[in-house]
Amino acid sequence: MLQNKIIRQIKEMRPWFHNLHLVNGIQTAPDHVLGDFPSFKWVEIAPFIPDDLNGWTVMDIGCNAGFYSLELAKRGASVTGIDIDSHYLKQADWAANLMNLKDKVRFEEKQIYELSKIKTKFDIIWYMGVFYHLRYPLLSLDIISRITGKMMVFQTMTMPDKEDYEARSDVDLYEREILSEPGWPKLSFVENCIAGDPTNWWVPNHSAVMSILKTCGFKVINRPSHEVYICEPDGNTMKSGSINDYQYRAATGIL
Ligand SMILES: C[S@@+](CC[C@H](N)C(=O)[O-])C[C@H]1O[C@@H](n2cnc3c(N)ncnc32)[C@H](O)[C@@H]1O
Repeated sequence: MLQNKIIRQIKEMRPWFHNLHLVNGIQTAPDHVLGDFPSFKWVEIAPFIPDDLNGWTVMDIGCNAGFYSLELAKRGASVTGIDIDSHYLKQADWAANLMNLKDKVRFEEKQIYELSKIKTKFDIIWYMGVFYHLRYPLLSLDIISRITGKMMVFQTMTMPDKEDYEARSDVDLYEREILSEPGWPKLSFVENCIAGDPTNWWVPNHSAVMSILKTCGFKVINRPSHEVYICEPDGNTMKSGSINDYQYRAATGIL
């Protein structure tokens, strides 16, 4: 019976990070430690995304088993999902097949940094749960800002801190205590693990998220859920423009 076959395949493809809801109430990770993940996040974000995405393109970075890719494809978008982990990509491909969405989504094994080679823009960049896993997080956002058409949905783990902060145009060399004040933009470096995961590297506070997004050319227009930021492209607002541009081109090899 088809149902038994699906359940067997889910078991064969363990472990699952996304709890996908499939036919007849079958789920891929019903005992997920975070709850019904990421459905509970999606219900908060979904109202901020157009219902009709026909004609829209989406790039889902770090797509994992494709939960968000598949939801956006259901709204009509043409979705490309990328991830570095072939195990999760196999799950995503399998689920797309099962949901008859193969003509709307494709999944590719790719590093986020490889997107620097892409010239075309995507209407939506879906960039959730990856930033803090990167050694070069700002480079990722500089790359993404060049390929964002209409919006980016961004999520990162954050460190708790005061949220209000007013940017200063300059800080005196002998006034550096201000850099450690509550609310000042900070990226906390993780030498070993968070939650047993050695791939966690940099954890920003909220102010750092806002400042980083701004200097990477994004304007935050909504915060639909904890640690989720919906952004619009806001031109290239990087300070010291040409110096940064040279650094970007050297780092990406696009000279
Ligand atoms: C915490 S999961 C987030 C999955 C999904 N985006 C979400 O929000 O539920 C991080 C995902 O990013 C992928 N990933 C980590 N580093 C990456 C990189 N450098 N480029 C592309 N994907 C990456 C991991 O394999 C994993 O599937």
